[in-house]
Amino acid sequence: MERRTLLTKLVHGGSALVGLVIGLPALIAGISPALQGRRGERWRPLGKLEQFPVGQTQAAIIEHESEGEPRPLSRQGVYVWRPTADEVVVFSRSCTDLGCPIIWDSGSQCFYCPCHGGIFARDGSRMAGPPDRELFRYANRVRDGVLEVDVFSVPPMA
Ligand code: FES
Repeated sequence: MERRTLLTKLVHGGSALVGLVIGLPALIAGISPALQGRRGERWRPLGKLEQFPVGQTQAAIIEHESEGEPRPLSRQGVYVWRPTADEVVVFSRSCTDLGCPIIWDSGSQCFYCPCHGGIFARDGSRMAGPPDRELFRYANRVRDGVLEVDVFSVPPMA
């Protein structure tokens, strides 16, 4: 094989690999709604509703049970926003660009992503930076005064 041919094949192979690495998260996010239908629902408590004051955004933790598997309990961060007494919004903490954990800033009332400068408004809508969609929202409900979220209601990587 000629040296030039070998170099060309290496460049094309490398480009394909980079494209796969970059495109895979988007592909998974794109097909995840179809997968969600098969995953069903899995509700987990976030805490008493009264812990989340109306008009505020607060961090909270989802505790994942092991469901019979010999794994330790895992924890997942979310943000809870109560725009009104009757409405609760639970945001995934993962940036919709490449999944970095976002940070809530109460001073500016915005979510910031430290990785590439993504900015989201209080309602989760995209304001600036690379993300091309709003924050993912968990389905939620209140049972016996406890706020619960369906952990399968957002894409697996969110
Ligand atoms: S991962 Fe958040 S802006 Fe890139």
